[in-house]
Amino acid sequence: MFQNLTAAPDDPILGLNEKFKQDQRSGKVNLIVGVYQDESGEIPEFQAVAEARRRLAGPHKANYLPIEGDPAYGTLATQLILGSDAPRMAQGAWVAAQTLGGTGGLRVVADFLARCQVVQTVWHTNPTWVNHQAIFQAAGLQTAAFPYLDAAGKGLDFTAMMAALEQIPTGQAVLIHGCCHNPTGVDPTPAQWQEIVTLLKQRQLLPILDCAYQGFGAGLEADALACRLVSEQIDEAVIIQSFSKNFSLYNQRVGAAIFLTKSQAEAQVLRSQVKAAIRANYSNPPQHGAAIVRTVLGDSELRGSWQAELEDMRQRIATLRQRFAASLREKCAVDFSHISQQAGMFSFSGLTPEQVTRLRDEFGVYFVGNGRMNVAGLNESNLEPTTRAIAAVVNSVVPDTVPANA
Ligand SMILES: Cc1ncc(COP(=O)(O)O)c(C=O)c1O
Repeated sequence: MFQNLTAAPDDPILGLNEKFKQDQRSGKVNLIVGVYQDESGEIPEFQAVAEARRRLAGPHKANYLPIEGDPAYGTLATQLILGSDAPRMAQGAWVAAQTLGGTGGLRVVADFLARCQVVQTVWHTNPTWVNHQAIFQAAGLQTAAFPYLDAAGKGLDFTAMMAALEQIPTGQAVLIHGCCHNPTGVDPTPAQWQEIVTLLKQRQLLPILDCAYQGFGAGLEADALACRLVSEQIDEAVIIQSFSKNFSLYNQRVGAAIFLTKSQAEAQVLRSQVKAAIRANYSNPPQHGAAIVRTVLGDSELRGSWQAELEDMRQRIATLRQRFAASLREKCAVDFSHISQQAGMFSFSGLTPEQVTRLRDEFGVYFVGNGRMNVAGLNESNLEPTTRAIAAVVNSVVPDTVPANA
């Protein structure tokens, strides 16, 4: 039965990461996967997370969680994105499910939309996170793209995006990145967000906001702006959260799917359908990662410590962006100033697939094939060699100093 199978293509990001691991060159630079790394290239543990783990150590509790996960976690996660005094929460017009990371949250949303025939098509930005289409299609939904980037591939084409959103048939879903757009790092301004929300409401489109990087863009509260505008102005919407990046809990798989409804009564019916979708998938979520997040968010001292460390990370990325753009400006004939204006971990560098291949093969500097880079993969020791390698490729001359990783 299995002999006629053909191999599925490697995941464009995780497959490349495997190649990076096998690369024997000592000065290789990994700008591929969306993981925050500190100055030494390590994934740091938040002090608040370490303390929460200590507090949680004790007799093992092995019973299943409820299908929708820990309710206290769901409340804290929803308050984090909507604000602790969100009127919608007081009204009970919301449902939160603890999910297996942001990916698991997207899949719960997709299964729910498909099984209840809420929408047929999910419209997404072009480009978008590589896994978005696959997740919604796997649930049986159609996907379609609307324009996002300008012709130079460096900024938002707001006019083209709004014109395309106008044309989407009423009653379909629009998947947008709540902040720190992946892969481009290009986000709408606050005023543009308001226009987008007004249009979605007018056209009766269902907003699905994917928030995997809250705290990495303009700040923890500022990054929640789009979700809060939607929650305040649109009756029905969906938000997906991931705590992989902003709690550094990548392998714990902690996320949430939050559904906003017109009323508490509708929330109750919707909850039953979300539970049915989860039951047929993984039955109920694991407990440890969500317990860590609940412990941190539920304790003012730990929460303050977590927030301060997250802010340090955000500022470090912003500084890296400035330094990287300045170093490229000195060395390159090509304009990379957009890198200093983008938000979050990622930048669309504007490098062509051929240039990306040369950087990998000749210099051991790894970008995703579409030119996306993880700015948080840069540090004191690899920033200059990386910009020299980029200069060598885009200026097409041999650099005067050979990079350490050549
Ligand atoms: C836009 C976006 N959504 C969702 C996810 C998935 O998050 P998680 O790793 O928590 O599944 C990512 C991760 O890279 C992402 O960039």
